[in-house]
Amino acid sequence: MSTVTITNHPLIQHKLSILRDKNTSSKDFRSLVSEIATLECYEATRDLPVQEVEIETPICKCVAHNLEGKKLAFVPILRAGLGMVDGVLSLVPSARVGHIGLYRDPETLKPVEYYCKLPVDISERDVIVLDPMLATGGSAIDAISLIKERNPKSIKFMGIIAAPEGLAALQKAHPDVDIYCAALDEKLNEHCYIVPGLGDAGDRIFGTK
Ligand code: PRP
Ligand code: URA
Repeated sequence: MSTVTITNHPLIQHKLSILRDKNTSSKDFRSLVSEIATLECYEATRDLPVQEVEIETPICKCVAHNLEGKKLAFVPILRAGLGMVDGVLSLVPSARVGHIGLYRDPETLKPVEYYCKLPVDISERDVIVLDPMLATGGSAIDAISLIKERNPKSIKFMGIIAAPEGLAALQKAHPDVDIYCAALDEKLNEHCYIVPGLGDAGDRIFGTK
């Protein structure tokens, strides 16, 4: 079974409380999503393999460590996952970025795919899927299934707020995918929105409502 890490560092909790506030502007919301993604990424990349390299400092030669292999690909789920991309790239600037477009059909609440463009060498990369909201889990499950068709080295999911229902569904569908979130909330409401949550993440990032 996958591991679930709730990265409830005090700095993340503080930023998350502002993010949840309905009076927070789109401009601040965007910055906070990006900052939280940076902080979570630090934790989600803790087990990346490193290799020894010999370098020469101004003082002497020494053995140091750098990241091994082809490194990472980040795959945001459109739209809201886009808000996390700058934050994670600030830590891993050489990572590749793929995109998967999914939206929840307002009637069925099931994800509908409309775009998929992934790095050609994804089979040589560790992938971190980005989406701030894990509600029913349908979008994350479908996105990860699409990525698995290209045989990446590994896949992790990084969200900001998860509902218990979405977490359980994602773990059941993809037991090999470790999950990182900043908060585990109480439940879903009758419209499958996370309670207390933060509302519609895409609309709040892009100011579309
Ligand atoms: C939101 C969110 C997730 C999805 C989560 O996207 O960004 O992708 O809902 O819900 P689920 O876990 O029940 O699938 P939405 O479908 O609203 O699209 P948007 O990002 O384009 O606004
Ligand atoms: N998508 C969102 O943006 N928010 C929720 O609470 C659930 C799904």
